[in-house]
Amino acid sequence: MGATAPVVVAGAGQAGSWAVKTLRDEGYGGPLVLVGEEQHPPYERPPLSKQVLLGDDPPESTILLDHDMLGELDVEFRARTRITALDRERRILGLEDGSTLAYDRLMITTGARVRRLELPGAAEAPIMYLRTIEDSLAIARKAAKGVRCVVIGGGLIGLEAAAAVSELGCRVAVVEAGERLMARVVGPRTSAYFADLHRTRGIELVLGDSPVRLEQAGGSTRVILASGAGLDADLIVVGIGVVPNAEFAADAGLKVDNGLWVDECGRTEDPRIFAAGDVTAHHNPVLGRRVRLETWQNAQNQAIAAARTLAGSEHALSDIPWGWSNQFKVNLQILGVAGHWDDAVLRGDPQGGSFSLFYFDQGAMCGVDAINAPRDIAVARRLMSRNIPVDRTRLGDRAVPLKDLLKG
Ligand code: APR
Repeated sequence: MGATAPVVVAGAGQAGSWAVKTLRDEGYGGPLVLVGEEQHPPYERPPLSKQVLLGDDPPESTILLDHDMLGELDVEFRARTRITALDRERRILGLEDGSTLAYDRLMITTGARVRRLELPGAAEAPIMYLRTIEDSLAIARKAAKGVRCVVIGGGLIGLEAAAAVSELGCRVAVVEAGERLMARVVGPRTSAYFADLHRTRGIELVLGDSPVRLEQAGGSTRVILASGAGLDADLIVVGIGVVPNAEFAADAGLKVDNGLWVDECGRTEDPRIFAAGDVTAHHNPVLGRRVRLETWQNAQNQAIAAARTLAGSEHALSDIPWGWSNQFKVNLQILGVAGHWDDAVLRGDPQGGSFSLFYFDQGAMCGVDAINAPRDIAVARRLMSRNIPVDRTRLGDRAVPLKDLLKG
């Protein structure tokens, strides 16, 4: 008889770090292996497009579990190890170097990778992405006074990067294919507020257009857009979304459709395989539909739920999705998932720089965008989770303390 195969946590990002920590907290005392593609122990990514890019915080500040902590948890950490295959019958993972790794149970936390800009001329152009510590440091090294930076994608990453490199002195243009900014996650009024903010700070916004090719001319790159317009760039930062790292799971016959399917407890259809974080799509009981979330909150809480379930104390995720962004010191917090709503109530004053938009779907509050109004999010979370009926006139009146609405 060989030794017991380990629990393998595949993917050493934020979800992976919470998975190993929770497994130990839950009393799993057997062998535990954490496999990561990158060279670093688990770290969190939100600061990479904010404090780290701006040089306010060192990259080490993002580390969630350093080597000492991994040692204390008795986790065997395998860095620079890429998983390429999964054999569910034999319960082994295939690694890029040709070796294999056996598992008794598997937790897939492989996250997502950046979607790449595939265009003529891209190979020769100074294109950078923003997902890893190295990416963030590379952009920071290039972003200096007078450098012309074209950002492709007016989503969360593109706009955070645009704000940061502008603060570092770059001349910035943002090209967004959609008609408004951050359309995936916020409502139109919030998009308009951030468009104003960026324009006021000197950023050129090009909406409803996208690059078709990149041309080299006299030491700089010209980004040619579908409209025929061109933008000169010394640096191009691309933030056009992410792709879940679920191919090896799909090849092994697990259900993958915009993410690896799991239930509320992080279980796949294979009783030995669990998953959490950006790579997964789960049925969210609060939203009443299947979603793939790319949030810091989900990476943490879904990993905790899945690890508890793996360790034997079944735990279901029941969060209202939440995320945040910082651009030019303006704080945006997003609760719920925008998309399905038929009414929006404004509370506060956009001119004054602090307001929230509360979204309703068939009478029920389903989401909030809060701009420099973090306390609104805390109350809205309680209103939504308790399904408290809300008087929309009082909600829109800042003279009425929001907490009063909790009384129904
Ligand atoms: N040209 C211009 N814009 C494009 C193109 C293109 N070819 N393709 C996509 N876009 C735009 C989309 O319309 C969208 O507004 O890029 C934006 C991408 O926004 P997100 O989907 O929010 O993705 P991104 O900003 O890259 O963030 C990726 O990282 O930190 C996380 O929370 C963040 O989950 C998000 C992920």
